[in-house]
Amino acid sequence: METELTRKLKIQYPILQAPMAGGPTTPDLVAAVSNAGGLGSLGAGYLTPEQIRHAVREIKQRTDQPFGVNLFVPEPSVRSEESIAAMNRCLDRYRKELGISSDPMLPAFVDTFEEQVQVVLEEKVAVFSFTFGIPSQNVINAMSRNGIFVIGTATTVEEAIALEHAGVDAITAQGSEAGGHRGSFLTSDADARIGTMALVPQIVDQTSVPVIASGGIMDGRGLVASLALGASAVQMGTAFLASRESGAHALHKQKILASNEDSTEVTIFYSGKAARGILTDFMREMRQYEGTVPDYPIQHALTTDIRRAAAQAGNPEYMSLWAGQGLRLAQDLTAAEIMKQSMDQAILLIRSMGSLVTVEE
Ligand SMILES: Cc1cc2nc3c(=O)[nH]c(=O)nc-3n(C[C@H](O)[C@H](O)[C@H](O)COP(=O)(O)O)c2cc1C
Repeated sequence: METELTRKLKIQYPILQAPMAGGPTTPDLVAAVSNAGGLGSLGAGYLTPEQIRHAVREIKQRTDQPFGVNLFVPEPSVRSEESIAAMNRCLDRYRKELGISSDPMLPAFVDTFEEQVQVVLEEKVAVFSFTFGIPSQNVINAMSRNGIFVIGTATTVEEAIALEHAGVDAITAQGSEAGGHRGSFLTSDADARIGTMALVPQIVDQTSVPVIASGGIMDGRGLVASLALGASAVQMGTAFLASRESGAHALHKQKILASNEDSTEVTIFYSGKAARGILTDFMREMRQYEGTVPDYPIQHALTTDIRRAAAQAGNPEYMSLWAGQGLRLAQDLTAAEIMKQSMDQAILLIRSMGSLVTVEE
């Protein structure tokens, strides 16, 4: 199956595995998707430059096909010691319950984006993608000079137009069904919850670079629908999150496989930034602190010890269980099986759709 994007990326099928920071996108998963004809992608937002280099080299050992690396564009955040202390007081009850020390030291927030970018350039990765904003013109130009294909994330038409002006080669249109953090950067997230079905054709009409549909796409049906909307490929996260090669915690995978389309909610309580995940006790209980949550990445750092201890203790209710709304369609399969099943289904569908039309002579 050939589209503008498969030609440009030199991949066989228009399926991108979503970059998923925090552990799911292991070198095994990224390489398995690329080896199966899609584009694997490493979610490297939380990794140090050294960790990125190591992971990229591991992927290169497992595949000679193209793959991507994804980073978080740093955003300005307001740091208030008062709100950090207040939030720590709210969080201490979870720490007490989990038997970990209260009021943890916040790490010094050192911005390593430039160094992370440097590794992508030095390792000559085929694709660089990003979310949460637009990197400087220098970064985008350096990628292009090095022949690296650049993909930005948009949740509105306005963001997509800004990305095209900045010189990206393709745009991921992230609909509100999507699991994980919302990529919104020009509007508040609440204003930017446009569903994939509505978002994709509007971005396609207003931009001239290939568009990648993302959010709630789990199989060949979502792929065919996205192509019909004008997308050049899809990016699937939740479908691969539950795969065998995914590094997601076993409890996270179990929850995905046992949850329904109405099991998720968009929350800011884990990280200070809107993200969609399976509803947990933590999300429910923290609702009373609405309006007092420190910005990302401060809240993310404040809840790190809780999420980690909960994962170790096997308590999913205090873990962040990012997932999109396509949950019921998730399956316990290998990445290659997900790729094959989706492509077989898409091809069958496209062939059978011809019979919907009666041609009158
Ligand atoms: C666990 C998880 C982590 C994610 N991390 C990232 C990330 O690091 N960078 C990024 O651009 N998108 C990230 N996303 C969003 C995906 O790129 C994509 O928009 C989303 O998974 C699509 O929706 P779906 O999960 O319904 O397929 C993440 C999604 C999930 C589920």
